[in-house]
Amino acid sequence: MINIAVFASGTGSNFDAILKAIEEGTLDARVALLVCDRVGAGVIEKAQLHEIDTVVYTPKIFENKAAYEAAILEDCRTRGVEFIILAGYMRLIGPTLLQPYEGRIVNIHPSLLPAFPGKDAIGQALDAKVKVTGVTVHFVDDGMDTGPIIDQEAVKIEAADGPEDLKEKIQAVEHRLYPEVIQSLFIKEELK
Ligand code: GRF
Repeated sequence: MINIAVFASGTGSNFDAILKAIEEGTLDARVALLVCDRVGAGVIEKAQLHEIDTVVYTPKIFENKAAYEAAILEDCRTRGVEFIILAGYMRLIGPTLLQPYEGRIVNIHPSLLPAFPGKDAIGQALDAKVKVTGVTVHFVDDGMDTGPIIDQEAVKIEAADGPEDLKEKIQAVEHRLYPEVIQSLFIKEELK
């Protein structure tokens, strides 16, 4: 069983999907920690409901990013965290966390990277009038949504789709794909 920390800033529907997969026995992991960088984010309540250990930080009260990430690193280490799963965490990961967790930080992004990196990938896809977008799960490096791609799945955009329709379609894929991809990574890890 692999100990994970989930980092999230928002509503936490992917966090919920991960917990559900664990409960159903399709993901062999334990969520040892939720790290949230936004006081009042919906994901915090979800963690409380499931009695998941949670730390909520306001990054700007730290002297710099290294100090903020050093606090998180300590939180992860004391709980034996082996993998970090980003699920709507709206910050770039710096060297303080990247070095000790190299190859062990993954992210999910709502587009077929390298198309539409960064914020509002769904809005970017609609503005570009593409007919297909999707979901990417990738390892995290020091860039913005640039790390090695682990898996992707396409989502078709219909003419009538607005931002909310497309978000719903993309999130339905995310909630199934993310736990599956994490599980396959962990199987490889355990075979090492
Ligand atoms: C997801 O769409 C994910 O792809 C992106 O942020 C969103 C988080 O949504 N990185 P939620 O908080 O898991 O509902």
